[in-house]
Order: sequence, then C-alpha cells, then structure tokens
Amino acid sequence: MAYNTIIFTIDGPVAYLSFNRPEKLNALNPEMVAEFFQAVDEVRDNPAIRVLLLNGQGRAFIAGADIKVFLELDPLSARRFAARAQELLFKIEALPIPVIACVHGFALGGGCELALACDFIYAAANTKFGQPEINLGFNPCWGGTQRLARVVGKPLAKELCLTGRLFDAEEARAMGLVARVFPEETFGEDCRSAAQGLAAKGRVALEAIKRVIDRGADVDLKTGCALEADAFALCFASPDAKEGAAAFLEKRQPRFQP
Ligand code: COA
Repeated sequence: MAYNTIIFTIDGPVAYLSFNRPEKLNALNPEMVAEFFQAVDEVRDNPAIRVLLLNGQGRAFIAGADIKVFLELDPLSARRFAARAQELLFKIEALPIPVIACVHGFALGGGCELALACDFIYAAANTKFGQPEINLGFNPCWGGTQRLARVVGKPLAKELCLTGRLFDAEEARAMGLVARVFPEETFGEDCRSAAQGLAAKGRVALEAIKRVIDRGADVDLKTGCALEADAFALCFASPDAKEGAAAFLEKRQPRFQP
C-alpha cells in the first residue's frame, strides 16, 4: 500500500522501512505511527521477508514523538497515547524475524525507545541518543524507562532519564545499547550489507535464536536452557542444519532453504 510518512520497500528477503518527515527530523506523529503499524503488519504477513531494517531520511533517525501532540493531552488521552505506541513496539518485538535499527543523527525520546525495541542497533558515528522527556516535564512513556534499564542497568538508566542528557554513539556502544558503530560516510551501505548477510542465513535458525534469547530473558537459567534445547531440536526439522554442516565439511558456502 502507499504511505505518506514512511518509505517501505522490499528487496528480496530484506524489508526497508524508512521514516520520512525529514523537515521535522522524523518526529513521530499519529499518521506516522498508524502507517508504521500497517507496515509492520505487512512484514508479519509476508513469509518471504527475513530481515527488517529501520532507518530515517534526512538528518535524523527520529528526534522523538511530535512535541505538538503533547499540547492536546489530558490524563486519559495521555494514557492512550502511551499505550498505542507501546503496542506498536511490542508488535515489532513479536515479529519472528530480526529487526535492525540503523540510527544516525538523532535517536531521541521515542526514537531511542523504538531502537530499544528492535533486536539490535547499528549507529552512525554522528548519532546522539537521549531520553530528553524530563526537559518537557514528563517521563519517557514508550517503554524507555523499562527497556533502557534492562539493557544498561538501573543506575545508568536513571541518570540518563533524570538528566535527559544526550550521549553519543561510542558511549551508547560502551553501555551495551549499540551493537556496532559505523562511519557516517559508509553507514547506509554497511547497514544494507549487514542486513543482506543476515537474510542469507537459515530462516529457522534466525527465528530460533531471536525467540530463545527473548523468552530466556524472562525465565530462570535452567528453563532458558531447556527452551534453547527445544529450539535446537526444531532447527533439525529444517534441511538447513544438515546443509550447514555438510557445506562446512565440503568447504563450500551453504545453500539454505529459500
Ligand atoms: N517534535 C516536533 N518537531 C520537532 C521535534 C520533535 N520531537 N524535533 C525536531 N522538530 C522540528 C523542529 O521544531 C524544527 O522544525 P521547524 O523547522 O519547523 O522549526 C525541525 O524539526 C528541525 O529541528 P531543529 O530544532 O531546528 O534542529 P536542530 O539541529 O537545531 O536541533 C534537536 C535538533 C534534535 C536537538 C532539536 O530539534 C530537539 O531538541 N528536538 C526535540 C527532541 C526531544 O525533546 N524529543 C523528545 C520528544 S518526547
């Protein structure tokens, strides 16, 4: 379907979703959130897609929710505003395939929270992260207080959310928020080739790893390891597992199931 505020394209097994309100640094407004919901449904319903890459057009990934919206909120509509975005981020987490946040420029407020809901983050060296909501007089409400604390630990999450200070890509990498930092000049190509590399791996194994790490994070170690053994068993329902081993022994590239 046609979109106004995002660009959604599919190239073989990789889907690209790019936020496209560059004149507003891709600040997320209700139309963008609605279109984002639709695109995530398209990804969920298309079994040919193995990887989803998110990025932003112009100078930023996302500079937060559109601040104009906050002028209109009362307590009930504020709760709906938070709940709707939270639902969207849970929907992204629930996708069976890997979702990569490729962030540059600014990943602030909702932009940082969205990136946190993805499976991992690649950042251009020029990226500024932050949860600056405190400076507007309220708290992060798209899961930021929760996911950030789970990734970086409570004291650091509190320092970041309470001060609202911006921090750069290297600091974000050092705290475990960002998986890799790439130079700005090659960032687009670096991310595309990483996504294509991921998409060339076996689908069953990709999904198994994502699922077992997510589910394992909420349970004790023994239960998590049992989930891992079940996931490993499931991998052998696909010819991919034997193909991978055979390819290694025959010194050739594996040909995983399309
Ligand atoms: N909501 C609405 N509009 C936003 C926005 C947001 N979150 N972030 C940026 N914009 C708009 C600006 O109002 C400006 O629009 P205008 O040209 O019509 O005036 C445009 O995007 C460019 O932003 P500008 O502030 O001129 O760019 P900058 O390079 O000087 O500063 C930031 C960049 C990101 C530091 C600054 O825009 C900012 O602090 N944004 C708000 C960040 C924030 O608090 N996010 C959390 C929201 S909950």
